[in-house]
Amino acid sequence: MSLPQILGQFPTVRLRRTRRYEWSRNLVSETALSPKDLIWSVFVREESISPEITSMPRIKRYSVQELVKEAHKAHDLGIGLLALFPVIENKRKSEDAKECLNDQGLIPTTVRALKQALPNLGIMTDVALDAYTSHGHDGLVTNGEILNDETVKLLAKHAIVHAKAGADVISPSDMMDGRVGVIRQALDSENFEHIQIMSYAAKYASVFYGPFRDALGSQSCLGKSHKKSYQLDPANANEALREVAQDIAEGADMVMVKPGLPYLDIVARVKDTFKVPTFAFQVSGEYAMLDLAAKAGWLDFNQGLMETLISFKRAGADGIITYGAVEAAQFIQKEPIKK
Ligand code: PBG
Repeated sequence: MSLPQILGQFPTVRLRRTRRYEWSRNLVSETALSPKDLIWSVFVREESISPEITSMPRIKRYSVQELVKEAHKAHDLGIGLLALFPVIENKRKSEDAKECLNDQGLIPTTVRALKQALPNLGIMTDVALDAYTSHGHDGLVTNGEILNDETVKLLAKHAIVHAKAGADVISPSDMMDGRVGVIRQALDSENFEHIQIMSYAAKYASVFYGPFRDALGSQSCLGKSHKKSYQLDPANANEALREVAQDIAEGADMVMVKPGLPYLDIVARVKDTFKVPTFAFQVSGEYAMLDLAAKAGWLDFNQGLMETLISFKRAGADGIITYGAVEAAQFIQKEPIKK
C-alpha cells in the first residue's frame, strides 16, 4: 500500500517531532493493552505431581487450592478469564482417554472450586485428548491413524463434562474436522446455549509447544510421533483462513491463532477477513524464550513481554492468551500503558 502524497516530505515533515515528549508519544499512541485483554493460561496438577516445570522455571503447576489463591490475585488485577490445562498422572492416562469423562476428575473439580470462590471470574477449559492419552495425541488412534469422527464424538462428551462443572468457555484445541459444530450441538441439546466456544481455529504444528508438552508429560507419551496430520503446516496461510471460516460457520464465538508471534500475519489476516473476536495464544515456547533471554541478561523480561503483547493487539487481536498475564497486569498497574 503506498502512502498518499499528501503526507509530504522531509524537512517539512519530521516524524520525530511527536516522539519528543512522553505526553505527545502518549497522545499519538495507536494501541492500548489492558489486563482486560489478557487470558491467563495456567497448569493445574493432581496433588502427587511436582509443581516445578523444567522448561518453564518462571511458572508452576498449581494444585487446585493453590490455583484458587492465585486466581484471586489475577481477578483483582483485572484479568477476566483463566484457561485451564490439566496435568494428569500417567497412571490415569489411557489409549481411549477415558479420564476425560470423569466428572470427579481434575478439571471438573478445579472448575467447581474456582466458580465457588470467584463466580465472576470466567473459566475456559481445553477440550482435546492429549492430557489424557497414553500416546499423547489429541485424538483416538488406531494403527497409527488419528481417528476424526470418533474423536469428535468423544470431545463433545468431554465438553459436556466441563459445562456441567460450570465452565464458561469451551476451547477445542484438537484440530479435528467438524468438532466445533458437534460440540455446539451437544451443548445446545443439554441446555448450555449460553456457553461460549473459543476455537483453536488456526493451530499450527509447532515446535514452540515443547515446554507445554514437558509440563503435561505428553512429550514423553508422544515420543517421536508428531501432530502434522491434524495441525496446520507453518507454510500455509490460505488454509488457515479456511479453518477459521469453517469454525465460524460451525458456531465458534471467538477464534484463536496459535502460536502467536511467528503467526502475526495470520492474526492480522483473520481479523481483517472475518471481523470476529480474534485471539492469539502466546505459547509456552514463546514465553520460555523470553524467560531464558532475560535470565541470560540479554533483555528485560517485563519489557519483552509487554512489547510482544502490544504487537498482538496492533496486529488486530482482541486479546491474548499468555502464561505472563499476571506479570503483565502487574506491570501495567505500576506503569500504566499509554492511552
Ligand atoms: C493440546 C494443546 C497444546 C497446547 C495447548 N493445547 C499442545 C499441543 O498441541 O501439542 C500448547 C500450548 C502451549 O504450548 O503453550 N491440545
